[in-house]
Amino acid sequence: MIVAVDGPTASGKGTIAKAISSHFGLPHLDTGLLYRAVGRQCALNGGDPDDSADALAATKFADGLLQDPELRSEVSGGLASRVSLHPAVRQALFDRQRSFALRPGGAVLDGRDIGTVIAPDAQVKLFVTASVDARARRRFLEMQQQGRPTTLADIAADLAERDARDRERSDAPLRAASDSILLDTSDLEREAAVAAAIDLVRSKVI
Ligand code: DC
Repeated sequence: MIVAVDGPTASGKGTIAKAISSHFGLPHLDTGLLYRAVGRQCALNGGDPDDSADALAATKFADGLLQDPELRSEVSGGLASRVSLHPAVRQALFDRQRSFALRPGGAVLDGRDIGTVIAPDAQVKLFVTASVDARARRRFLEMQQQGRPTTLADIAADLAERDARDRERSDAPLRAASDSILLDTSDLEREAAVAAAIDLVRSKVI
């Protein structure tokens, strides 16, 4: 069973994908982390994330970089969103994601284009959304807990900018697959969102 979980930043898709992974005993790949690693590697190389060749060179990051806590920062998220615009970067990361999706026992992947590009054949596709307000508040609390200084207004502006970039790019833009199930988490607490997602997966596979 392949479960695709797509949606914008801070929609709750990562939490939901992890919960589905542990509930159904499926391995999980956070594909945003791959793009974050490319963005960070590009910066470490002194490259320009808006330059396709620089961004492509950064796809040769060491796997150890995936453990770097700095990847969780807003700066890394912004860099990831910029390098992810380049078709060459998306192509370079395709095989790694596709082979994960095809693991014999199944898998859960979360990202922006799992249901549309990486695993259009997924048995279950969830598209997780939430209002900009709800997402900004969540991300703000997360950043506070991590001790990263920021303001709600900065977070909301950054989210809106990333949403626009992810939705408007020509290659694999963020959009719900036509056969995906929409889950709006704006008014749901974490536990309720997770329970709803698990029920949806169960309803698709039974
Ligand atoms: O899910 P995230 O916030 O960690 O993703 C960071 C950026 O990476 C996001 O703004 C766009 C890009 N991304 C992508 O283009 N395709 C994916 N499957 C996952 C992430």
